[in-house]
Amino acid sequence: MFLRDWFLIFTLSLNIWATKATSTIVFIGGYSGDGPTDSKGIYAFALDEVKSTLIPLGLSAVTTNPSYILIHPSHKYLYSVNEQDAGTVTAFKIDSTQPGHLTLINQQSSRGSGPCYLSTNQVGEYLFVANYNNGTVAVLPIDTNTGNIKSFTGFDQQTGSSIDPIRQTSAHAHCILLDKKEQYALSADLGSDEIYHYKFFSNNGSLLRTSTTKAARFGDGPRHIIFDSNQKFVYVMNELKSTITVYNYFPTMQSIQIISTLPQDFTLPNTGAEIIFHPKLEQYLYASNRGHDSIAVFLVDINTGHLSLIQHMNVQGRTPRNFNISPDGKFLIVANQDSNNLVLFTIDQTTGKLIPTGSTVSISKPTCVKYLGQ
Ligand SMILES: *[C@@H]1O[C@H](CO)[C@@H](O)[C@H](O)[C@H]1NC(C)=O
Ligand SMILES: *[C@@H]1O[C@H](CO)[C@@H](O)[C@H](O)[C@H]1NC(C)=O
Repeated sequence: MFLRDWFLIFTLSLNIWATKATSTIVFIGGYSGDGPTDSKGIYAFALDEVKSTLIPLGLSAVTTNPSYILIHPSHKYLYSVNEQDAGTVTAFKIDSTQPGHLTLINQQSSRGSGPCYLSTNQVGEYLFVANYNNGTVAVLPIDTNTGNIKSFTGFDQQTGSSIDPIRQTSAHAHCILLDKKEQYALSADLGSDEIYHYKFFSNNGSLLRTSTTKAARFGDGPRHIIFDSNQKFVYVMNELKSTITVYNYFPTMQSIQIISTLPQDFTLPNTGAEIIFHPKLEQYLYASNRGHDSIAVFLVDINTGHLSLIQHMNVQGRTPRNFNISPDGKFLIVANQDSNNLVLFTIDQTTGKLIPTGSTVSISKPTCVKYLGQ
């Protein structure tokens, strides 16, 4: 090799090293299309934590409607739904030498139409997928040596309807995730106003429906579910009512609080979307409002599980379908689906409140934010 080549390799390594030292790679999923300005798949950005900015790294992989993505616990693979009629889930290998680059591994049926959510068990041997249009959930095994997705081992068709004449005429599974002991899975069904409970068998990847919990009120439209770190409480974002219901988890789910994610005087249309805990400060919980276009920040009483509102932060865009907090807990990125932008906030480490950084980047119809290392 020529000296020039060695020099190139040296500077390239320096760049990669610098990127790693000061920044975190972020993958963004969303809705794709055929037009020249439409998204073509999954995109990557570097979050520069020193300058508080997002740096575009370009298209990571071409894929159809990756509206929800998941990083494998090993950080070696990325899984994406393809939200389309014949729903699929696609596996990619995360390239460790080229930041933000993904290579296709394989694709499997999601066992339903309109897959919209993915989760995994802690060791990463099973993927859980919820199919919105069909109201079905499925379990797909992962070969942890290759990242390959295998054909489903667990499946359930949810049923029923509720009072909303447009959104609740049939079952619409919106999420599925294991509880922390990984013996049970919960799934929010927006269409039937129910939380489905499943026994999960890790020996063969099957699901057995055990019971259902009714939403606290008709027309709630439960969308996403999270647990506190001790699994004493369950927090459910109700999309149609823009409320969070807090439940006890053991021995059965009992609702203990219903709280709005909106200011009292806001009466325009709104749907609730994402709900997450702060990854380091467990007394703070964040939820997004599509319509009011804000993130509501709540203080969590660790003993009673109750929430109290402490802030509404404007998202500097429209329709914040998803947002996520960096693994170190210092940054929050919002994906504004209808204003085609990502907006970066910092989080005050003593109050949990959001502070705008002024950093925003354009991207077509973003709907999912995932940090490598999360
Ligand atoms: C699932 O959705 C597809 C397309 O919307 C439809 O053709 C199919 O009949 C549905 N299957 C079930 C089990 O509801
Ligand atoms: C999976 O394993 C459990 C526990 O051994 C068993 O009860 C169940 O029947 C199995 N399911 C299938 C589909 O093999």
